[in-house]
Amino acid sequence: MAERNKKSLFIKTWGCQMNVYDSYKMADVLAPLGYQMSDTPENADMIILNTCHIREKATEKVFSELGRLRKHKDQSIENGKKALIAVAGCVAQAEGELIMSRADYVDMVIGPQSYHHLPEMVFEATGGVQKRKLIDTEFTFDDKFDKLPGEHKSQGPSAFLSIQEGCDKFCTFCVVPYTRGAEYSRSVASIINEAKIIADGGTREITLLGQNVNAYHGEDDTGKIWGLGRLIEEIAQIDGIDRIRYTTSHPRDVDDALIEAHRDIDKLMPFLHLPIQSGSDRILKAMNRKHTAQHYLDIIEKLRKARPDLALSSDFIVGFPGESDDDFEATMDVVRDVTYIYAYSFKYSARPGTPAASMPGLIHDNIASQRLAQLQELLNKQQYDFNQSCVGQTTRVLLEKKGQKISTQMLGRTPFNQSIHVEADPRLLGEIVDVKITKAKPNSLTGDIVAKEFISSQNGRIILNDAA
Ligand code: 5AD
Ligand code: SF4
Repeated sequence: MAERNKKSLFIKTWGCQMNVYDSYKMADVLAPLGYQMSDTPENADMIILNTCHIREKATEKVFSELGRLRKHKDQSIENGKKALIAVAGCVAQAEGELIMSRADYVDMVIGPQSYHHLPEMVFEATGGVQKRKLIDTEFTFDDKFDKLPGEHKSQGPSAFLSIQEGCDKFCTFCVVPYTRGAEYSRSVASIINEAKIIADGGTREITLLGQNVNAYHGEDDTGKIWGLGRLIEEIAQIDGIDRIRYTTSHPRDVDDALIEAHRDIDKLMPFLHLPIQSGSDRILKAMNRKHTAQHYLDIIEKLRKARPDLALSSDFIVGFPGESDDDFEATMDVVRDVTYIYAYSFKYSARPGTPAASMPGLIHDNIASQRLAQLQELLNKQQYDFNQSCVGQTTRVLLEKKGQKISTQMLGRTPFNQSIHVEADPRLLGEIVDVKITKAKPNSLTGDIVAKEFISSQNGRIILNDAA
């Protein structure tokens, strides 16, 4: 009987890690209804598109994916079962009505603040009493996280934990304040509770997530407000959690407590994603970033004083309205000054409804493309140089998953978040091991395990006869 109630759920996720996390949460919330994750939309009983609206053509991408999915739906109806199609995420939030009217085979549209309503919506869509049009893009002020199950079964050695959502910064290019709403921090207790559940499930590394994660200001049980530094200190006390990361940060919210956390907490990894977007004060002002390039460089200096091995990554936008050659050079100067080990860089894309979309001084696409290529050449060189400088060193690697090609190959991450391929006994999955780095590529490293014996947190003592 139970078997008959099993249904398959396919989720396609675009965009940031917050969306990846939300997709796990949607899977959790639908599990009690019998839905189990599937890797393919074929024969799925429900398909969710978890969408991203950050750059252009987002809505068109969703419509073309929906066009492809329509045949799965038609097929399912021919087979006597109606597959549900849901559009979730930021495109759903921004374009819900349009999606429902242009693609009438979509069963529901659900914004990021409403995922706890999914079971109710599925019930209605599958024959329960339909109380309303199945568009849910309300911004609620209660904690959606507390209404979602706190446990993800499929998280593995490294897990995400969302602590904050939304943004009050209103950078003039960005849709996030409109699609994710006002800044909201979860309570300390709910975060610690979830972190403990994740740790009990065998996770060794937690990445704290938020659109503006270091603006975190959650309440503890006594009503006191905690910042991110204090929260990290508490999570570091949890047995089984050996690594902590957080993303994504805003330079204006790097406070002293956070800098001290980088100095004092070994479990906080020496890698920080701190976007600057542009190195020109004029452009930073037009972007409403509310800091100068020098302010950013000063923060990095303080952070490096606190944690000398700290490595950095950033986001950059080129071709923002009015960006001159000199403005772009200022961005290149910051990159030369800081030296990043990783970065994301984008051509500016006008997002409807944002202030920058109506700014004068549009930059021609050819110029923006040239600047992007120049910037990426420098960033790629810095990344490769850093990877090469690691060859010969021994580092701690968390073995996160099995490699695709050879059965003994595993994929792990260094403290600096570099991907590394290691030959290892599959029983070591989820362990942190010493690895000597032997080879560097632009995007990954290769290394060999240096110890023969491990005390494993999960598997007891493991002795490898043939390692090293
Ligand atoms: N155009 C180009 N890049 C953008 N980003 C956000 N909005 C835009 C836009 N309109 C980039 C920023 C941000 C990252 C997540 O996406 O660099 O930090
Ligand atoms: Fe967007 Fe700026 Fe908020 Fe980041 S800080 S989410 S770029 S508005």
